[in-house]
Amino acid sequence: MHTHLLLHGSDAPTRHLPEGLAKALIGFHSGWRYFILVLLLLAIVYAYQASKGKRPFAGAAKKMGMFTMIAADLQFLVGIVLYFFFLSRYTNLQMGKLKDQIGAPEFRTMALDHALGMLIALILIHIGYSKAKKETDPLKAGKKQFTFYLIALILILLSIPWPFLSVHASRGWF
Ligand code: HEM
Repeated sequence: MHTHLLLHGSDAPTRHLPEGLAKALIGFHSGWRYFILVLLLLAIVYAYQASKGKRPFAGAAKKMGMFTMIAADLQFLVGIVLYFFFLSRYTNLQMGKLKDQIGAPEFRTMALDHALGMLIALILIHIGYSKAKKETDPLKAGKKQFTFYLIALILILLSIPWPFLSVHASRGWF
């Protein structure tokens, strides 16, 4: 980080979170992924069953859809805070440095791919939830939640910085 600043000869101070807070937020954001994945899976399975008439949509299926949405919204809020400090760490929030960094995979995969992929997934969850809620036919409501949440799940799985991907090797499982 400091080497980076020296290399770029920056005079503007990089904004940092206090170390304890940074650790707490990243720790939360990192662990919360598993909670979201479990909720998403349940919301998808229940919605599938509802779409086949095997359970009513109004009940666990709809509730799980809502819990998933709230959990993802919370992750997003923490993500926004981390995002600002992540950008600050790498670019000092200067356009010129952003251009320098965008070619570096460890920066681009988080600043662009991760943030954008997750944002789209979040929007899909919101659309799926409200479409299912407005639907009067419970089978169709189940189908809506199933489809939107499944696409969101795939996007989230693809956007998580898993440590088995070489560019994210320095990150952990939790
Ligand atoms: C469902 C949504 C999301 C999931 C499951 C998720 C998951 C993760 C995971 C697993 C990490 C690695 C943490 C570690 O190093 O241990 C991470 C890091 C990060 N996420 Fe997310 N994320 C989500 C949404 C977002 C959003 C919407 C943003 C930004 C707008 C964001 C910004 C970041 C940033 C900046 C980091 C790097 C933090 C750092 O190392 O300083 N995330 N995320």
